[in-house]
Amino acid sequence: MTNFPQKAIDEFLKIKIEKGLIFTEEQFKAMSVRINPQTGDIDEVDNPVDTVIRLCETYGYKDFAESAVDAMQKASERTELLEKIQILTEQNIIDKEPPVCCAPYTSLNFDSTGNVNVCCYNRQHVLGRYPERTIREMWNSTERKDLIKALSKLDFTKGCELCYKGILTLNKNILIKKFNIGRAHINNDMPTNMDFEFGTICNYECIMCGGKWSSSIRKNREKLPPLTASYDEAFVEQLKEFIPHLLTANFLGGEPFLTPLYYKIWDCMAELNPQLQILITSNGSIFNKRIENLFTRLPNMRILLSIDSLTETTYNFIRKNGNFASVSQTIDKLIQMNRLHSLLFCPMIQNIYETHKIVDFCYKNKLTLYINTVYGPLGSKIKGIHENGKSPYVWNGQTMEKITHTNDVLIPEFCLDTLPIEKLEKILEYLDCLLFYPDPYKTSIEGLINVVKGFISKPTSARPGQV
Ligand SMILES: C[S@@+](CC[C@H](N)C(=O)[O-])C[C@H]1O[C@@H](n2cnc3c(N)ncnc32)[C@H](O)[C@@H]1O
Ligand code: SF4
Repeated sequence: MTNFPQKAIDEFLKIKIEKGLIFTEEQFKAMSVRINPQTGDIDEVDNPVDTVIRLCETYGYKDFAESAVDAMQKASERTELLEKIQILTEQNIIDKEPPVCCAPYTSLNFDSTGNVNVCCYNRQHVLGRYPERTIREMWNSTERKDLIKALSKLDFTKGCELCYKGILTLNKNILIKKFNIGRAHINNDMPTNMDFEFGTICNYECIMCGGKWSSSIRKNREKLPPLTASYDEAFVEQLKEFIPHLLTANFLGGEPFLTPLYYKIWDCMAELNPQLQILITSNGSIFNKRIENLFTRLPNMRILLSIDSLTETTYNFIRKNGNFASVSQTIDKLIQMNRLHSLLFCPMIQNIYETHKIVDFCYKNKLTLYINTVYGPLGSKIKGIHENGKSPYVWNGQTMEKITHTNDVLIPEFCLDTLPIEKLEKILEYLDCLLFYPDPYKTSIEGLINVVKGFISKPTSARPGQV
């Protein structure tokens, strides 16, 4: 017989007592069982929530049904959450000490609209916007304290839903893992990590990217005017009090090596905290003396290189404007200089069967492998640009702008979750064959397998080409 988690029953009883409702022992027992109308036997309960609704309605407690079901659902979800946290703790993905996530204690993320958050997944809980608020004000903000309070109660509703989903699906590549690095510093009251994500200038037009990240996509694909920058030299001045306390800093974009203000920040970092661990996510298209000079001044500056394919034709198709031969040379140079930290891979319809090549390259060259989850184009699907695009509008950070131009050639589907189940099952078979790699590669592949399994379990109505 399916039982409710004890916590759900406790919750039910609590409300029952508070509301002064009287169920007989028999009636209460009926909550967790069902009588087979034909045989009179007791059946298993396949849906406990339905059983409660039936019970409450049968005995005239209609109003009560909603709150009871809601409370039981919540208690049940919490039990599942605690169980999954326990599993991830045993696998050293989540730390055994609270807090469950250190990001609100240690980290600031600066996005291209000027908004400041604690991490790149939580765009909803904004600490403030530069230049309206100073970095110091945002760090001291009640918004940050509210997030700390919520997460200390394992409440993920303040914008932390992606990590909540990650826990429930036992995703071993969960973002929470990254922030454990600052755990020893949660009482410092100074950020130890900063993510700079405000570069929007990019020379590439990757099929899965959007105009908020690439000025070339914005100009050539979306036909929109350039975005205006929120950050300025005064921002770099404000950063100076924080830089000496940082342990890690990440730079994304756009293409970081095309972002002028980043060079100013790196100059400050070289002066105030030269040992800082700096990770730059780059498309690898730019490598010159200026960058070599930065490497000399910042000995712990390393590159995460987005590659997506090690086959020339696939690479050039996905990473439009890219030159595979030149990026390969840069990769070789960075490996020689011990400056290549990792490869980043976006598994998509076009490259999923090349996963083994990327894993193998990382394994042989002792590089970390990061696998991005592609749920759709960055930003959103746009009518006239993407196949099955829904809206002709694009969010520019402040308003919705209408795209007037439509391309002659649509960007094809690239998300794995648009594939029919049989194809996803074949992909799972292929990925299963890669599990012989040792950790950390095995864990990354398992993460990808879980993502594909998640796509398979999506309702069939949400899947194109399915009944
Ligand atoms: C927006 S790019 C900016 C940095 C740099 N231009 C690059 O390509 O590495 C940051 C990362 O996001 C990834 N990315 C791009 N489009 C994505 C999508 N639709 N879903 C998930 N990740 C995506 C890129 O592959 C890259 O690793
Ligand atoms: S993924 Fe990176 S390289 Fe590609 S267009 Fe977007 S910002 Fe540029």
